[in-house]
Amino acid sequence: MKLGIKTFSIEPFDGQKTGTSGLRKKVKVFQQPGYLEAFVQSIFFALPEIPGSGFDDGANDQPVLVLGGDGRYFNKEAIRTILRLAAANKVKKVLVGQQGLLCTPAVSAIIRERKLTGGIILTASHNPGGPNADFGIKYNTRDGGPAPESYTDVFYQWTRRIKEYRIAVDLDSQDQDPFACVSLDRPQVYEFPMQENDSNFTIEVIDSANDYVSLLQRIFDFGLLRQLFQRSDFSMLFDALHGVTGPYGKRIFVDELGAPMDWLRNCHPLEDFGGGHPDPNLVYAAELVSCCDPKENANAPEFGAASDGDGDRNMILGRGFFVTPSDSLAVIVANASDAIPYFRNGRLVGVARSMPTASAVDKVAAKENLNFFETPTGWKYFSNLLSTGKAQICGEESFGTSSDHIREKDGLWAILCWLSILAYRNVGKTPVGSFIGVQQLVEEHWKIYGRNFFTRYDYEECDATAAGNMMSGLLQYQEHGDYSSLEKVVGQPVIVADDFTYKDPVDGSIAKNQGIRFVFADGSRIIFRLSGTGSTGATIRMYIEKYETNPSKIFADAAETLSDLIHVALDVSRLEAFTGRTAPTVIT
Ligand code: G6P
Ligand code: ZN
Repeated sequence: MKLGIKTFSIEPFDGQKTGTSGLRKKVKVFQQPGYLEAFVQSIFFALPEIPGSGFDDGANDQPVLVLGGDGRYFNKEAIRTILRLAAANKVKKVLVGQQGLLCTPAVSAIIRERKLTGGIILTASHNPGGPNADFGIKYNTRDGGPAPESYTDVFYQWTRRIKEYRIAVDLDSQDQDPFACVSLDRPQVYEFPMQENDSNFTIEVIDSANDYVSLLQRIFDFGLLRQLFQRSDFSMLFDALHGVTGPYGKRIFVDELGAPMDWLRNCHPLEDFGGGHPDPNLVYAAELVSCCDPKENANAPEFGAASDGDGDRNMILGRGFFVTPSDSLAVIVANASDAIPYFRNGRLVGVARSMPTASAVDKVAAKENLNFFETPTGWKYFSNLLSTGKAQICGEESFGTSSDHIREKDGLWAILCWLSILAYRNVGKTPVGSFIGVQQLVEEHWKIYGRNFFTRYDYEECDATAAGNMMSGLLQYQEHGDYSSLEKVVGQPVIVADDFTYKDPVDGSIAKNQGIRFVFADGSRIIFRLSGTGSTGATIRMYIEKYETNPSKIFADAAETLSDLIHVALDVSRLEAFTGRTAPTVIT
């Protein structure tokens, strides 16, 4: 069989504009004839690395891509189509994850380890999946990170003017998928001779976990983790929420570290994630939360963790104890240089958090003399810091934590950080009963650094105009500059009131209007932002933080401690008057 190229005419589709999380739409939108083809062809027209593309710089004549997704509905179909488009667009080789599965951090790792041209990830992250839910597609560049705007803007321009797409055909039977013989069931290499230039197009089905697991093995001390897993006073539950991390969880926790199978929950990837939201937080991972609560489960484990649909988010739990992502980041940073081999020998010199993330890590950075950066929401803002060695560990309140080992957030990495800290802190802790658990670790941390009480209220699917008016109202309030009502309730003067602006210390670029904030003298903060990731209407996020060092108050209930700040924030924003909402849709 020889591969030929067939060209089909097409009209541009509206709305194929990507953000940093790629193009996310309903499955039904992607299923329109030509829709996926138009978008992927636009990427191929735009990529400078594709020979003959409008931007071919002549330097790269053999693009090699990696392709895989989170296993959601339409994943396998999309892979078949993308392989045909790749072959017809002078891509030399595509590595495909076994069963079409690759978690987002693994794609980033594979691109970097194998020095590939880039990768295509099929995911809508933590959004629900299934025929009536979401699908998504995202391009990552050769540094392993999501395509920056300089790429995505060009993708979008192509989607506006595309007239045709190219697809590989079997010259002997033009209507057949020439790659029908490719099985995604096991690793194997397939070569297809191209008629056009006497070269071969290669499809290599790869083990989805090998590269990623060996990277993690170089970062963590798996021997020490194995010892932790053998302790009779330690147990854990890992919940993959039916997302892509299930098989990775099995490979790492069971095969490599010796966990029994019943430490895994929902580790079989499902196209609709079992009907749930594959989002690891107190609302959508409520089952895991109750399994980890000794009041509800007599066998509650010492440690609980979950990750999202594509494996870049994480949630960390102890026995009846939830670790806020902001605290998680701070605890990881405080312990990394001791407990994690990758960070030993002074490798950790800087850390970063997104602006709405509570300021817990700031205190660690100050004490340990680390560089500290506060960036706008969005993982992309960490990229320059990571690539230039200014920061090694980054995190966000939105359940994302990672390091410079890749250029994506990494859920399993965060979980292994916590396990490593538990393992390290418990070396020699015998007999049974003296185990230092998650809660004790975090409480000890608070005693040293103080506690940053934090909550986030989400008001999803608000009317976009109403939400915009509320934000303008807050800006007007800042213009007047009279914060006496706020200051009276909080008992502290406002020392910063602005709409957050970030200047990137590496390239000098400026990001404006990144969130309205009121910062008080004691470090308490009220922040309002409109989400940049919602798909319907507007999502208002209200972030509330209070810093406490008084040892008699650091163990208080978070909701109670924050209630005054919450009330006054709702008052000054007039959120209810603008949006009609009396309660948030999600609290984290
Ligand atoms: C994604 C991004 C994160 C971001 C989160 C929430 O997960 O990767 O960087 O923090 O969305 O963003 P949003 O704009 O909805 O608050
Ligand atoms: Zn995700």
